[in-house]
Amino acid sequence: MEERGKWGTNLGFLLAAIGSAVGLGNIWRFPYVAYENGGGAFLIPYFVALFTAGIPILMLEFALGHHKEASAPKAFRHIDAKWEWLGWWAVLFVMFGIQLYYTVIIGWCVNYMCFSLTMAWGDDPDAFFSRFLGRTDPGNIWAIQGFQGSIVVAVALVWLIDWGITYGGVQKGIERAVKVMMPVLILVTVGIVVWALFLEGAGTGIRHYVTPDFGRITDLEVWIAAYGQIFFSLSLGFGIMIAYSSYLSRDANIFKNSLIVGFANSSYEVFAGFGVFSILGYMAVQQNKEVGDVVRDSLGLAFVAYPQAISLLPFGRLFGVLFFLLLAIAGISSSISIIEAFVSAIQDKFSFGRKRIVTVICAVGFTGSLLFTTNVGLFWLDIVDHFLNHYGLIVVGIVEALVVGWLYRTDRLKAHIVANLGLSGTRHKVFNYIVLQLWMYCIRFVTPVALGIAIVHSLVRELA
Ligand code: PHE
Ligand code: NA
Repeated sequence: MEERGKWGTNLGFLLAAIGSAVGLGNIWRFPYVAYENGGGAFLIPYFVALFTAGIPILMLEFALGHHKEASAPKAFRHIDAKWEWLGWWAVLFVMFGIQLYYTVIIGWCVNYMCFSLTMAWGDDPDAFFSRFLGRTDPGNIWAIQGFQGSIVVAVALVWLIDWGITYGGVQKGIERAVKVMMPVLILVTVGIVVWALFLEGAGTGIRHYVTPDFGRITDLEVWIAAYGQIFFSLSLGFGIMIAYSSYLSRDANIFKNSLIVGFANSSYEVFAGFGVFSILGYMAVQQNKEVGDVVRDSLGLAFVAYPQAISLLPFGRLFGVLFFLLLAIAGISSSISIIEAFVSAIQDKFSFGRKRIVTVICAVGFTGSLLFTTNVGLFWLDIVDHFLNHYGLIVVGIVEALVVGWLYRTDRLKAHIVANLGLSGTRHKVFNYIVLQLWMYCIRFVTPVALGIAIVHSLVRELA
């Protein structure tokens, strides 16, 4: 059997894990979800979800992958052969339930990056977007999106890049790529947000983003949205973080790494929200509208409202190219982590060579994602997205917490985390002790109960 991959440095691992977490979900999903669910007040359920489920499950996945040096299916098999399916479910689901459309949305971004140069959407991005998606021909479910198949070319390009990166392996492929992509991502983000903050109307937009509507806090829906966002945003429940941490060196500090990745992802999305809402505020002022009227829905935010704002901006072309470049980079650094979770699972189970696995997966994946470039795909996307956010992720989260918390016993994973805290950790001994103790309670009680309430509530509403 081929040797498993290894990160060259802990920093390389951090960049890759943050690259997986920071994705399309941070830039267009979070600001929209926050706005819809109480604005500034949403931060309360959001941070509760981060502390009671996000960081605990992240620490669990990191500790499990690192301790077992295994991908999700193998790690769960080691706990008990009965649970191997959970790992397979996670990696198959993320590959075929998410990756296939995620790469198509990245493809839209690549297309829009080019359209920004010529402002191809003209005066009416709304009509353009529906034409782009082939919706002018709603009767034909196989109608291809984009113009002259530009979307097919873009999706092929995205898969080619994904293939090129993952083919090289953990260190020579992924680590090398994220060392370039992440600094660019951060620079462009800061540039865009600062640019946006100085636009006329930015303050009005931001007021809509942060003004708390505390009345919403008692609404269970808002809490479910918060847990859903945290899971999706941190790439949890897919075996991704398990695979990534399995490539860490034996002396890595799991405790510190979990906190860094958890906080980096949330900081990024809260920060990006300021940029997104500044732009919306600018647009509302230019068009003499209310901020609420320019928000629409989450897809429309990136592909309709933004193009419109870009056409109005001074230096809009440059802004457009940078904005969609940003989305594309964020998306690609996430989508390579999905491929890696799947590759590592196959590699741990069968003795095929890594390169062959990567090539086959990318070829099959590209073919599958072509479905999402048609009208059928859009219909499917709605269904997948709904079930994903309400059930797919949360079920894996609950089962993970219960299996590890009660069957494997969290104390054993805790011992593993403590062993790697090393002597350097003594200064913060009390802090570490308290956090780890809380972590155990979360995994065994708080996380499964909180997620359980979320899912029962959704089911009840679905059936009603
Ligand atoms: N975390 C990514 C985002 O916020 C989404 C993602 C989900 C990535 C699942 C990989 C796996 O966009
Ligand atoms: Na994210």
